[in-house]
Amino acid sequence: MKTVLITGANRGIGLEHVHRFAKRGIQVLAAVRSPTDAVELHKLADTPGNFITVLPYDASDPAAPAGLKAALGDTSIDLLFANAGVMGERKQSFGSVDVEEVLHLVRVNSLAPLKLAEALADNVANSANKLIALQSSQMGSIGDNSSGGYYAYRVSKAALNMVAKSMSNDLRSRGVITVALHPGWVQTRMGGAGAPVTVAQCVAGQQALFDRVTLLDSGHFFNYDGRELPW
Ligand SMILES: NC(=O)c1ccc[n+]([C@@H]2O[C@H](COP(=O)([O-])OP(=O)(O)OC[C@H]3O[C@@H](n4cnc5c(N)ncnc54)[C@H](OP(=O)(O)O)[C@@H]3O)[C@@H](O)[C@H]2O)c1
Repeated sequence: MKTVLITGANRGIGLEHVHRFAKRGIQVLAAVRSPTDAVELHKLADTPGNFITVLPYDASDPAAPAGLKAALGDTSIDLLFANAGVMGERKQSFGSVDVEEVLHLVRVNSLAPLKLAEALADNVANSANKLIALQSSQMGSIGDNSSGGYYAYRVSKAALNMVAKSMSNDLRSRGVITVALHPGWVQTRMGGAGAPVTVAQCVAGQQALFDRVTLLDSGHFFNYDGRELPW
């Protein structure tokens, strides 16, 4: 793995991935909504020996994928990792679903990764590893849903899972592997301090998965520990 592009690279799971990829000598294209506020990321980028480029990327901006493509040209991308995501704040329980909230989450969590992959598919197909990873959630699994609620988030991640499956079919002939991921319930701003999985455990597991997946794994949904999950 030589070059990785990751979105949501300024905090949480994304920032730890940047840290670990850089430590492994991998070039990181770190895409963030607000580069000037990404203090921790800039510290990593300024550390001698790290090859980190900070790029602007707002997943709610339809022009963002074209902006990244213009900045990157034909740069090969071994791993395109759409990690940025939002949980939503307003009520998402049955009886009080806010349609605008659902649509916002679908734009950011499901359609932005699709449009990003469309814009950068050639860059991935021209690389050695040819991997696209979509940071989904077990909350997007229909087979695993036994508790209901969280309509906006669940709908958006279920849609992202469908994006992963379709993309795996559309890109297989170019040798591109597409996987959907559940990072675990992780101790980040989104997961909260009481979550059972540390950021370090999540990221170590996901990077081990990236190192071993092949085309046979394309179109599958994986937990951070490598276990396959039901759609
Ligand atoms: N933590 C968990 O337990 C858990 C469980 C299942 C799935 N996930 C998924 O894992 C991914 C990472 O989450 P996390 O736990 O690391 O959460 P986090 O700490 O809240 O980080 C979310 C990241 O997404 C970025 N982001 C949000 N909206 C964006 C936008 N419009 N454009 C660009 N970037 C945007 C944030 O950037 P800003 O700082 O600019 O907001 C931040 O970097 C998400 O897709 C999430 O759904 C997390």
